[in-house]
Amino acid sequence: MSPQQAASARDLVQASSRQIEGPLLEVTDLHTHFRTDRGLVRAVDGVSFSLQRGRSLGIVGESGSGKTVLSRSIMGLLPKRNTERSGSVYFEGREIIDLPMAERRRIWGREMSMIFQDPMTSLNPVMRIGKQIGEGLRLHLGMSKEDARATALHLLRDVRIPEPEKRLDQYAFELSGGMRQRVMIALAMACGPTLLFADEPTTALDVTVQAQILDLINVQRRERNMSLILVTHDLGVVAGHTDEIMVMYGGRMVEKAPTRVLFANMKMPYTEALLNSIPKIEDPSHTRLNVIPGRPPDLVNPPKGCRFAPRCSFAQDRCITEEPPLMTAEHPEHVYACWYPVGSPSHRARSAELAANAGAR
Ligand SMILES: Nc1ncnc2c1ncn2[C@@H]1O[C@H](COP(=O)(O)OP(=O)(O)O)[C@@H](O)[C@H]1O
Ligand SMILES: [Mg+2]
Repeated sequence: MSPQQAASARDLVQASSRQIEGPLLEVTDLHTHFRTDRGLVRAVDGVSFSLQRGRSLGIVGESGSGKTVLSRSIMGLLPKRNTERSGSVYFEGREIIDLPMAERRRIWGREMSMIFQDPMTSLNPVMRIGKQIGEGLRLHLGMSKEDARATALHLLRDVRIPEPEKRLDQYAFELSGGMRQRVMIALAMACGPTLLFADEPTTALDVTVQAQILDLINVQRRERNMSLILVTHDLGVVAGHTDEIMVMYGGRMVEKAPTRVLFANMKMPYTEALLNSIPKIEDPSHTRLNVIPGRPPDLVNPPKGCRFAPRCSFAQDRCITEEPPLMTAEHPEHVYACWYPVGSPSHRARSAELAANAGAR
């Protein structure tokens, strides 16, 4: 082998090992804007992050912060009509932001799939459950009718549906809300995707069923070595169910850290406010929720400085005039965008002031 050949062979090996070892998903400076009568809605406005293979990421933020648009932009599930998109979505070693529809379809189901928020509108009401699950298997994996049915049964067992044989021949309306959501999970996992999106998968369910569904998603994720992006407005939901957490506000990522690091040392007053808005079990039942006062920003005309500043109890002049960039915290995987983070001298002084005022009242 000549030195050149050796070098190019080495490059090839390195390139292929990069593909295996590198992150599964790498999103860089992603913008998704919608043209509307009111102007350009900056639903996702410059988001960058990466996700390693087999890991799980929770995306949290109030309603309207851009979580759904971010996940759908990555999956390529947005209408083209009024959408402007830029940036990069690198998945499994290739750029997928502008894939033509035919190639996109090949990715859906087999490589990326999504559990939607509302199973009643996402399941086909006039197709039996077994056939719905089987269709993807036949289309993507080329299974025979019999194999697809047998695999559908297997999947229904995996998602712990009672009497799975009976469910194969039922319609969505014949199932309970919890069972429908389990069918959605079976559907999303049918073709063995590497990356699973779950967008508010449990919001419509009661608390006990919620916990069961989240545990189920996690067990399946580990067994199948899938990566997971779990989208929710509830910081409590992701706390116990994901390796990392990203907090979104007004179309931007404002904090991201491994879950344990975030809870031990959150930096954004917004993250802290989200945490305080979770009802605690020990609260008496008549306790009022600490909802964050004010409204989320207008995404057509977002505030000039920090987008949270108008609602932040700790904001100073600089927060109104100058947008904080993402900064790295003590932990190298912890980033946040705040001039006066939780625990800083300025934040501590203002906290003491607020506490004294509350005491005086
Ligand atoms: N097709 C669309 N056209 C115009 N605006 C949209 C469209 N889809 C979403 N939006 C706007 O984008 C913002 C972010 O929405 P979304 O991602 O659904 O928020 P979240 O999932 O965090 O609740 C919202 O202000 C929403 O109204
Ligand atoms: Mg949403």
